[in-house]
Amino acid sequence: APAPPCTLVIFGATGDMTGRLLMPALYNLARVGALDPAFRVIGIGRRELDDAAFRDGLTASMDDVVASRGAAAPQFDPQAWQWLMQRASYLAGDFKDGQTYGSLDKRLAGAQGGVIFYLSTDPDFFLPIARQLHDAGMFKQSSGRWRRLVVEKPFGRDLASARELNRQLAKAVNESQIFRIDHFLGKETVQNILVSRFANSVFENSWNRLFIDHVQITAAEALGLERRSSFYEQTGALRDMVPNHLFQLLAMVAMEPPNAFEADAVRTEKEKLLEAIRLQTPAEALIHSVRGQYRAGTVGGKAMRGYLEEEGVAPDSRTETYVALKLCIDNWRWAGVPFYLRTGKALARRQTQIVIAFKDAGHALFCEAEHCKPPANTLVLQIQPDEGLFFHMQAKVPGSKLGTAPVSMDFRYRDHFPPSHSSGYETLIYDCMVGDATLFQRAADIELGWKAVQPFQQAWAEGGDIHPYRAGSQGPAAADDLLARDGRAWLSLE
Ligand code: BG6
Repeated sequence: APAPPCTLVIFGATGDMTGRLLMPALYNLARVGALDPAFRVIGIGRRELDDAAFRDGLTASMDDVVASRGAAAPQFDPQAWQWLMQRASYLAGDFKDGQTYGSLDKRLAGAQGGVIFYLSTDPDFFLPIARQLHDAGMFKQSSGRWRRLVVEKPFGRDLASARELNRQLAKAVNESQIFRIDHFLGKETVQNILVSRFANSVFENSWNRLFIDHVQITAAEALGLERRSSFYEQTGALRDMVPNHLFQLLAMVAMEPPNAFEADAVRTEKEKLLEAIRLQTPAEALIHSVRGQYRAGTVGGKAMRGYLEEEGVAPDSRTETYVALKLCIDNWRWAGVPFYLRTGKALARRQTQIVIAFKDAGHALFCEAEHCKPPANTLVLQIQPDEGLFFHMQAKVPGSKLGTAPVSMDFRYRDHFPPSHSSGYETLIYDCMVGDATLFQRAADIELGWKAVQPFQQAWAEGGDIHPYRAGSQGPAAADDLLARDGRAWLSLE
């Protein structure tokens, strides 16, 4: 069904995100008739542009997106794009200047239905914009004329700043109007984690400490810094990926079943899970974490320079581009089951996956050697690329001798469903339009994430090693030791 009539106001509309992710998502929604004819999009930015120049820039970005999709993609639909461009306009203005909001209010005067204010700006502007919108009375709602605020990451830098941001935002706008985005939740395969678990009885029955030895969550990237040095130098891999994206994966894979697939029920269970992450002392956190930084190497056949040689990076930078952590979850289901998380840039390949490592068979029935280790099954929830679900198991090798070999039962999205080419933002934008907050984060969710990483931030503030790793490798050797100490190993990135 088409979303209700509304206007999407994008702050920071000349930034990379609007052209690369938001507009392609709106185009995909327009193509399938999910937007109301009265839909409008207004871009706001500091650059002096007229509507035509704004639209030309968007069209150029869309051309790039289409070109990067490959031959198998559905034909580009110029009519849908045209439909969208007719509804796109631009407003030049300073985010901190009241006049900008006066002009915006005028622009919105004739608009039908609700308004989404989408903050796609530098985080320093989140509060000033929210305050201005509040002061201009633009968060006031009346029947059919709802107002919502979408906040992108990074949401704070640590627990204290995230709390403060939540506190200040609450003065400007109601919590129920705030939609905090984590784009990982827009990925089909992330949503599929819940379907795999709760629509298939076979998995959930063994989804606990009695059957599972440990869980690995990996978000490996092959890309390096990609011209984001000023942001990344201040951020590092932990802040950039862990309390947000990796914890969303963790929550989806480890939470209790919600009573209903409904925003508050789902979010309550996720928060309960995040709350159960054991808060380690900084000394424990130091032992249970590994930081790395990439050096020059080769990724996918191409030479990549080291992090310290990147433009805008301090020659003695201690910003981590890789992090591995061991976490424990103190609840009934997961007591004694370690969760190992890792993420990094410039690794061997792009791979985001969750590995459920089951306990071994207990008794090595099919092995003649003494002290033979019985085999263990693993279930891989592959988030990207090559989306699917893979179950690694043992099978008998044909022949008169009874030998076993590892094999895999594979479900691949591409074998069953047409390719989606979504930017990941379609679901999130649509859900915001219809007011479904299931895939968005509440204030508590964000704060619990920061709280769980705080011990690591504290531990590292006092020093600790940063292990170099070669670009294109599996990450620092110390990350292998983190698991080897527990008699375990990462599933290799391949
Ligand atoms: C972003 C991070 O939030 O997520 C980036 O800031 C990272 O550093 C990106 O590359 C990863 O997202 P995806 O969808 O490409 O896996």
